[in-house]
Order: sequence, then C-alpha cells, then structure tokens
Amino acid sequence: MNLDERALMSMIQNVDRPKPLMIGRLCIDPPLALAPMAGICDRHFRLLVRRVGGVGLVSMEFISSEAITRGVRPELDKLAFSDEERPLAIQIYGRDAQRMADCAAIVDELGADVCDINMGCPANKVLKGCAGASLMGDLDRARRIIEACRRQLTIPLTVKFRLGLGRGAQPVNYLELGKICEDLGVDAVTLHGRTAKQMYTGRADWEQSRWLKQSLRIPVIGNGDVASPHDAVRMLQQTGCDGVMIGRGVLADPWIFRRTASLLAGSPPDPPTLGERLDLIRTHFRWIVREYDQRTALHKLRTFTGKYTRGLPNGRRLRHQIGTLDRADQFLPALERHFDELQRLGQELSAEAGA
Ligand SMILES: Cc1cc2nc3c(=O)[nH]c(=O)nc-3n(C[C@H](O)[C@H](O)[C@H](O)COP(=O)(O)O)c2cc1C
Repeated sequence: MNLDERALMSMIQNVDRPKPLMIGRLCIDPPLALAPMAGICDRHFRLLVRRVGGVGLVSMEFISSEAITRGVRPELDKLAFSDEERPLAIQIYGRDAQRMADCAAIVDELGADVCDINMGCPANKVLKGCAGASLMGDLDRARRIIEACRRQLTIPLTVKFRLGLGRGAQPVNYLELGKICEDLGVDAVTLHGRTAKQMYTGRADWEQSRWLKQSLRIPVIGNGDVASPHDAVRMLQQTGCDGVMIGRGVLADPWIFRRTASLLAGSPPDPPTLGERLDLIRTHFRWIVREYDQRTALHKLRTFTGKYTRGLPNGRRLRHQIGTLDRADQFLPALERHFDELQRLGQELSAEAGA
C-alpha cells in the first residue's frame, strides 16, 4: 500500500458521517451542492450532474432580476427546469429591491426549492450595476433586498457571498452580512472564502468559513477550492460547516459528488471507467447539439471538451485537434475516435502485463 492509499484508507475509516443539511424545512442529503456557474449550469449540465448522483442540491446559473422583470426572452428561457433536477436552487441578482422581490415571487411561483441571492459575483459588468459583490459595500441596500425578497417567498431563501470587497473602509465584512442574513430570516448562507478583489486568485480561506459557522445559528455552506472528495471531507472537518458547495471541481470531475458521497459513507471514492466518461460526454454533447444554435453549441462544446479531457492520456493532442473543428457535429466522432484509441491502448497494455 503506498502513502496515498494509506492516507485514503485512514480518511475513510475516520470520516464522520455528516448530518443532512437543513435549509428551512428542506432536507439536503448528502450535504453537497453544485455551485451556480454562469454559462455552465444550464438545465443540461444540472441534469447530468444529478444523474451521475451524489449531489444534494443543484443550482441554476445566476439570473438577472432586471432582465426577468422586463421580460427579456433569453433570460426567461434559462428558468426552465425539470423535476428530475430537484432539489434545485434558482439564484437571482440585481440592485433594485423591488425588482429583486418581483423576481423572487416569480422564482417562488415556478416552484423552485430554494431562492438564492447572489452577493458575491465579482464580474465588472455586475459590480458596475451595483449588484453581486458590490452589495457587500452597501449593506443597507443588501438588507433592503433581502427583506423585500423574504416577504415574497414561501420557499427557503439563501444568500451567497464572499469575504468582502477586499478594498475600501471595510475590505472584509462577511460576519456582518452573515448576521444581517440571520436576523432577516435567511435560511442558510454560502461563503466563498475569497474577497471580490481576489476574483479567483490565491487560495480560498477556509478558516473564515469556520468563523462564520461559529458566529451564526443558521446553516453555513463552505465554498472555494474543493477539487476532490478528500478536499470536501477536509472542508467539513476543518470548518464545521453544514454543507459543501463545489464549482470548478465538478467541471474537471463530473463524478466528484458521487465520489464524495461514497467517501462520506465510508467507501472508496472510485473514479469513473473510461466507458462511463464517454457515455457522459456523449449524452451531454448530443443535448448541446440538439438544443443550441451552431455558434452557442460550438462555444459550449469547446468549453466542456477542455474540461472533460483534462487528465486523459493524450488529452492535449485531442484538445488541439478539437480546436480546429468548425462544426458542432464533428465533435462527437472526434471524441469517440480518441476514446476507441485509449481503449485499445489499455487493452494492449493489460495484454502485455498479463503476457
Ligand atoms: C465559470 C464560472 C461561473 C460562475 N458563475 C457564478 C454565478 O452565476 N453565481 C455565483 O454565485 N457564483 C458564480 N461563480 C462562482 C462559483 O459559484 C464559486 O463560488 C467559485 O467558483 C468558487 O468555488 P470553486 O472553487 O468550487 O469553483 C462562477 C464561477 C465560475 C468558475
């Protein structure tokens, strides 16, 4: 048994089975959530992650309250979801309390399981509109938005934020915002352990998640830099958080929730087989080609090929080759050829090993 295997076995033996995450009356079990990711968490990706298994809550990419309340078609289309995805959170963002409340009422009426407010997005476009993380620099406005949404909602309300803006008079104020959320009847909060100024640089500071958890009575979901099942278990252990939210780690490994749930249940977090990998890519790519226009489909296929083939033997060669394709229907055959080659290579290697 090598060192990694020994460490893994000891983690499996010592892992505490976590309690389900309660968001209001909603029970999230296992306490693992798919992070909202713009351009990624459309209904196909959410369904895919749900079908792989192990995820407790999936989240929609953020939805503009401004666009929804003005009836902008492409934004309204994003709100579609199926029962198979449940439990599902719809995340909304905006700066105007009335529009946010109207949008929350729509989310409620649509029958989502959770309404989440984005107070953490550091993108310039969103910050300039005084939404997302910029609300951490204007806690009065944040308070008005939360109050207005709470009044409209019959479903649980959550708020997702960062450590703070990372500049100005109060660069870090997540404890204050967390307390505001609790006092206003928010059912749970998610903390991404970076400031807005950091964007995605540096490391997420899990220690701050531990402090937030210690200072609040409502559940706290930890987020940031969970890239493996072991990371997820470590985050639960180190922070005492009630749940873990994973974003980029799911792109690199769509099986991360199933594997983490397995580790939490005391079993090894087995990786997928080559066949499972291909099946998942095949399903996803067929959905993309069927649903989107050529330009959007190409963009999505390139994004996901880049993520799904990371770590595969000869993955770089494949990504280079895929970069030259200019029609969406060429992607799947190219990937299938690559997987056939890998399968052959694997068989030859095991034949050689057995000889
Ligand atoms: C491509 C991309 C899109 C994102 N879009 C959103 C979003 O719509 N709403 C949000 O609250 N956070 C968004 N995030 C942030 C993630 O939800 C998460 O907080 C962040 O990636 C840290 O978690 P991770 O290290 O597990 O990826 C996005 C992140 C990425 C990489």
